[in-house]
Amino acid sequence: MMDSDRNATQGRDIRTCGINPNHWYVVAGSTEIKDRPLGVTIWDHSIVLYRDTLGKIHALENRCPHRQVKLSDGKVIGNHLECAYHGWQFNSQGTCHSIPYLNEKQKLPKCQINSYPVEELNGFIWLFLGDPQRLENNDILPLAIPEWDHLNYIATVSVIECRGHFSFVIENLMDMYHGHLHQNYQAWTDANLKELSGNEQRVEAIYEAKSYYKIDKIWSICQLFFSPLRRLHSELLKVSYIYPHWVSTLGEDFKIYCLFCPVNRTYTKAYLIHFTSLNAFVRLHKLPIWFRQFIKDSLFGSAQKMLDGLVKQDVMMIEQEQEAYLQDKQRRTHEVNPTIGQVQKLIKQQLTLSSEVNIMIE
Ligand code: FES
Ligand SMILES: [Fe+2]
Repeated sequence: MMDSDRNATQGRDIRTCGINPNHWYVVAGSTEIKDRPLGVTIWDHSIVLYRDTLGKIHALENRCPHRQVKLSDGKVIGNHLECAYHGWQFNSQGTCHSIPYLNEKQKLPKCQINSYPVEELNGFIWLFLGDPQRLENNDILPLAIPEWDHLNYIATVSVIECRGHFSFVIENLMDMYHGHLHQNYQAWTDANLKELSGNEQRVEAIYEAKSYYKIDKIWSICQLFFSPLRRLHSELLKVSYIYPHWVSTLGEDFKIYCLFCPVNRTYTKAYLIHFTSLNAFVRLHKLPIWFRQFIKDSLFGSAQKMLDGLVKQDVMMIEQEQEAYLQDKQRRTHEVNPTIGQVQKLIKQQLTLSSEVNIMIE
């Protein structure tokens, strides 16, 4: 890429910036796909997901080549996807496999729809929208979430559906000064940025904060309901934008992931996964595995109310930002947290990286 093109990318409007498709994005939760096809959209690409007879997930362009209707309205028949309109069937590579009313003299038309690399991992469906050849070296992988299956972590998932460009969402997640919005609704307060670093793949910010909760006694859960039991204490609050996703830790007790699915320039879907650690309960670790699994499964979703509440407040602010931007795109905003500048730089750098292999998706 020439320097002039690079400068043009750096100077472009962050609120319309495209994605770098050469990463694994999350398009659905595993439990959303049972025996029926599911239509999803990522960066204006309409895609249909379905499970074959072995339970393996496949991803095809969501458009029947016959009359352009959505294949997600059809059915899964064995390992094939059948269109609702005339019953044409397609295999997992997107090739037309059969037409129910074809006579002996007719041949199947050579119609092919796109198929996409897709993986089911850690409770989510990960899709790769970029150049499939880039996957050959096995160095582009879905974000690791070791806590998902680990017996010492209790998970809660909240889905973010937001009428806003993905840059507004990640800026919200990286700017811990917005604790002001949540007041004592969240686990910490008084964040103060201490360190900021980054490269072409990630931005890391470390804040010093005061945490309300300490998960070290079996009755620690009571702190959620009885505020006098809370003891404010200092903890490091680390937030990382590992493009295109987000990871955060608060001391040793909490870890949160946000897995992104940018739907289009003005709409973002994301999955927020909150983990509470039970690492401090050594005696619990000596119990039989089946029992620990039972505890993990039974407590799934225990932070739901808190997480959904935080998401609701954030979405309200982000949608107002997007609305204000659409009303007056030229109007300047004022920022004092250097993390935001780093985040915007990374988004633009990633766009530049995608254009270097000529598959820029804008
Ligand atoms: S439109 Fe799909 S089979 Fe006719
Ligand atoms: Fe928030």
